[in-house]
Amino acid sequence: MKPTILSYAVFILFIITTQSIPSASVHVVRDIYGEKVLNNVPYYIGPVIWARGGGIKLTNTKDHKPVCPSYVVQDPAEVNKGGHFTFTLSIDGEHMYLQTSSILGIDSGLPKGLCEVSTFWKIDDLEAKAPSNLITIGGIFEDDYSCFQVVDYPKPTSPKIHSYMLQLCPSYCGGGPPRPCFNVTLYQDKGVRHLATGTGTPFEFVFQKA
Ligand SMILES: *[C@@H]1O[C@H](CO)[C@@H](O)[C@H](O)[C@H]1NC(C)=O
Repeated sequence: MKPTILSYAVFILFIITTQSIPSASVHVVRDIYGEKVLNNVPYYIGPVIWARGGGIKLTNTKDHKPVCPSYVVQDPAEVNKGGHFTFTLSIDGEHMYLQTSSILGIDSGLPKGLCEVSTFWKIDDLEAKAPSNLITIGGIFEDDYSCFQVVDYPKPTSPKIHSYMLQLCPSYCGGGPPRPCFNVTLYQDKGVRHLATGTGTPFEFVFQKA
């Protein structure tokens, strides 16, 4: 039997429908322009509406005194994009693009101070009350206190813009008993907006290629 136009059309429809059903909530992360975010490549991250402050950056001062390791904070000025950060998936194999709901490390690049041996983001003490649960650098890739994932923001500010939130998931990297992931929020400490784990509104952010 010769294939008809109709059988081709049915076949194509079959491909389209099976391809568009997600097998899990794992999918490619997209930047502010809708482009796929590359794994292991530097990006700026910042709020959806930049009038709510600038991008995320490091600071090596707290209360006007030098601190080490540096804190991960939001630049107060909306014109500033902040620093750039590299998101690296920890799953096996070469992945070209970043995925949601997949364990990754967030790297700040080369150490800028003498005390900064490692530049992965980490949290010091999960059980501590704020401000001890602020995010700093000095973490180790795939360590339970540096075990982050990017997830879709549940109620995005704009349906047209891909926005995300971060979670810290120690038990996914073998740390302690199984427990839910911690949301990453903005925690205001003496006028400085820190990234921290907490129960407040999760920090909604977008990716922009550096
Ligand atoms: C994390 O944030 C989401 C979205 O706001 C919320 O539904 C969830 O309960 C939060 N989880 C925790 C552990 O606070």
